[in-house]
Amino acid sequence: MFRVAFVEPKIPPNTGNAIRMVAATGCELHLIGPLGFDLSDARLRRAGLDYHDLASVHVHADLDRAWPELATGRIFAFTGRAERSFADVSYRAGDTLMFGDEPTGLSDQVLADGRVTDLVRIPMLLGIRSLNLSNAAAVAVYEAWRQHGFAGAGARAQRDTRSSPPPPAH
Ligand SMILES: C[S@@+](CC[C@H](N)C(=O)[O-])C[C@H]1O[C@@H](n2cnc3c(N)ncnc32)[C@H](O)[C@@H]1O
Repeated sequence: MFRVAFVEPKIPPNTGNAIRMVAATGCELHLIGPLGFDLSDARLRRAGLDYHDLASVHVHADLDRAWPELATGRIFAFTGRAERSFADVSYRAGDTLMFGDEPTGLSDQVLADGRVTDLVRIPMLLGIRSLNLSNAAAVAVYEAWRQHGFAGAGARAQRDTRSSPPPPAH
């Protein structure tokens, strides 16, 4: 229903957590390279538990190659530098919720890109730099899904045949 995009993620368990989260919510995860890890990384598999087969994961070599697919819908860039609260958006099916990498976040170039619909922030107390990437993505997806009455919750999760193959188990 919604797309989650991680731009150049670096820490395997964050992406593993997101794999489990998209499997639980029926979203797509778009991993945009270069990635800071190999998709067969044991830490990524472990964090994703047994849900890799049921997660819709799409890997793009870089952002230039991801834009055409993502830009078919609205794109919300999540950044602590935004004024607008993420909770003030009325999310639509097909929207992309885009997140930056763990050390640096989304670049100025991405934040200024004309294909980005708006910049949004998740409120925090003062003195905190940012949320963990996978926590931020989960908060965002659950707000978007809540607005849609948690549509589909209770139905069985299914494999997306367009998904990249799950990483091999070692
Ligand atoms: C660990 S944070 C990156 C921290 C980086 N120093 C920064 O300031 O963006 C990873 C990603 O989580 C998302 N994120 C974390 N906290 C956020 C917040 N309060 N509001 C919006 N996005 C947030 C952003 O997409 C960010 O790029």
